[in-house]
Amino acid sequence: MRVHNFSAGPAALPECVLRECAAEMLDYQGSGMSVMEMSHRSPLFRSILDDAEACLRRLMDIPRDYRVLFLQGGATLQFAGVPLNLMRHGRAGYIVSGNWSKKALREAARYGEALVLATGEGSGFARVPELPASVSQQLDYVYLCQNETVFGNMMREFPQTGDVPLVADISSCFLSCPLDVSRFGLVYAGAQKNAGPAGTTVVIVREDLIAPGPARADICPSYLSYLEQSRQGSLLNTPNCWGIYVSGKVFHWVEEEGGLARMERRNWEKVAPLYDFLDGSELFSARVEPGSRSISNVCFRSSSPELDRLCVEEAARRGIVNIKGHRLTGGLRASCYNAVSPESVQALVSFLGDFESDHAAGRA
Ligand SMILES: Cc1ncc(COP(=O)(O)O)c(C=O)c1O
Repeated sequence: MRVHNFSAGPAALPECVLRECAAEMLDYQGSGMSVMEMSHRSPLFRSILDDAEACLRRLMDIPRDYRVLFLQGGATLQFAGVPLNLMRHGRAGYIVSGNWSKKALREAARYGEALVLATGEGSGFARVPELPASVSQQLDYVYLCQNETVFGNMMREFPQTGDVPLVADISSCFLSCPLDVSRFGLVYAGAQKNAGPAGTTVVIVREDLIAPGPARADICPSYLSYLEQSRQGSLLNTPNCWGIYVSGKVFHWVEEEGGLARMERRNWEKVAPLYDFLDGSELFSARVEPGSRSISNVCFRSSSPELDRLCVEEAARRGIVNIKGHRLTGGLRASCYNAVSPESVQALVSFLGDFESDHAAGRA
C-alpha cells in the first residue's frame, strides 16, 4: 500500500511513472538491459537525453537561445556553479528569502563579493523580502530562490534588474507552475522534488552568459563550467543516466496532465483546503503570511513541540508520512508537489481536524 507522502525531497513521484520504470527495468525497449546498465554514449541513451530536453523545452517554453544542462551534484553544487561561471567582475547581489538563498550567498562569498540586496530575516522568513526598486548595473547577476522549501514562502514577483541577469534557484517549484524563462539569465533546479530521483540538476542558461570571457574560469572545475558542459551536451563525463531517464518520464507525465498552467491551478486548488484549515484552526497555525505562501511547501505548527511530535507519530499511523518540519524551523511541513494527490491533502486535513479535536486540551 502506498502512503500519503509529504516528503520535501526526495519526494513522491507519479505512480504511473514508477510503474513504467518497473516494467522497463530488465529490458528497456528491447535492448536486453536496464537504462542503468547502458552506455551513456549509446544511441539509445542519447535518445533518452534528447527526448527529456525536448519535452522540458516544450513544457517551459524555453527560448532557443537558452541551453539546457543535466548535471549532478544537486542544487547545492550550483551555489558554487553560479558564481564560478557568472561572476565576471567579482560582485553579485543576493535576495535572501530563507535557508537556501542564505547558503547560496555564503558559497558565493568564497569567490567574490556577495551583497545582500534584501532579506526576509526580520520576519523570520514569514514573508518574502521586499524587492529592491532597482539594482546597481555593476553587478554580475542578481540571485534569488523562488520557493523557499524550509520556511515555506514563495515569490510571486521578481525584481527589475535592467541589464543585470537574474538567477533563480527554482528547485522546489520547478514544474509546479509556469515560469517566464526569458526573465532570467539562468535558472536551476534539483530534480528530487517535482521532476525525478535525486542526483540530477537541471540548469537552464542563456547562451551569451556562458560565452568565453573573463570569468572565474581559471578556478572553475571543468565539470562545473556551463560552457564546457554545453559544448559536450551534458556528457562531459558519465551523467546520472537513471535520473535523466526518470525525469524525462515525469516531464512527459506533466505534459500529458495538461502542462504547467494546469499544474499550477491544480496545485493551488490542492493546497487551499490545507491553508484554509490552518487559518481556521485554534491549535495549528501556518508559518507564512497569505501573500507569500508556497505552492508546494506548507509549513505550520501546533501549540508546542511536544504536540508537533505527537502529530507526526499519529499521522504515520494513518499512513500520512514525512510531515515533520525541517530541523531549522521545527514544527510541521507538508510538501505538496505535483505527484501528491488532492486526496492525500484531504486525508491530511481530515487527520489534522481529528487531531485537533482529540487534543483540544493541549491548546495554547
Ligand atoms: C530550494 C532548494 N535549493 C537547494 C536545495 C539543495 O538541494 P540538493 O540537496 O539537491 O543539493 C534544496 C534542497 O531541498 C532546496 O529546497
